[in-house]
Amino acid sequence: MKFIILTLFPEMFTSFFEASILKRAIGTGKIEVKLVNIRDYTKDKYNRVDTAPIGGGAGLIMKAQPIIDALKDNSTSSTYKIVLSPRGNTFNQAKSIKYASNLNEILILCGHYEGFDERIYKYFDEVVSIGDYILTGGEPAAMSIIDSVSRLIPGVISEESTEEESFNNGLLEYPQYTEPYNFEGEKVPDILYSGNHTAIEKWRKKQALALTRELRKDMFDKYELSKSDIKLLRELDVEETPKWEKDALEKGKKFIKKED
Ligand code: ADE
Repeated sequence: MKFIILTLFPEMFTSFFEASILKRAIGTGKIEVKLVNIRDYTKDKYNRVDTAPIGGGAGLIMKAQPIIDALKDNSTSSTYKIVLSPRGNTFNQAKSIKYASNLNEILILCGHYEGFDERIYKYFDEVVSIGDYILTGGEPAAMSIIDSVSRLIPGVISEESTEEESFNNGLLEYPQYTEPYNFEGEKVPDILYSGNHTAIEKWRKKQALALTRELRKDMFDKYELSKSDIKLLRELDVEETPKWEKDALEKGKKFIKKED
């Protein structure tokens, strides 16, 4: 995947691309990044990229000419062109999956100041927002989108990590635990030490259903419950350890760690 970023502040991306998973993804060629400084395209005699809006009003507006010249110089007809703005479609995991699986080259225009000359929008395929709040510029929004899309490119992270995660199957991810067994009085659920993978999977599904129902009612209402999901939820509601869980705990007793 190639990302082309049009920005007035390319330096904001330096540490973002020079650390952790994205650094490795660039190193292995899974992603490629081109930073384009919009200021390099200004034809204004004072090198301006922004000016006061015609008709008056607060703040500075980014001019059309440098943006569109930068866009034309750095894209082809097969480049998917995104402009970032709070007025756009809200970015989410479904959109991220669509971009990662259908596109090879994404150009992202980051705004700064009070917005763009209205005439730029028709040159883009989509206007995208990362949420109903206003940032000082599109750069942090571009980083969120690039990060989220990149991790879905095969080989960037392990496929197992993306298969089980929140949103992919319409539920939040199940709770995870690490050592120690007892942290300030809160213990790791015994079933996770049982060694019974079927029971652990079932328990995790039950927790994912419970968490989603509790924390994200909007997601839960959209999720289609299977017969076994309904059964798991019923087990939760009667607050009694079901037979399959009791059996797994009994059989796995020797592995179950009671104290550190
Ligand atoms: N620019 C400013 N605010 C933004 C937002 N919420 N999403 C995308 N781009 C933005």
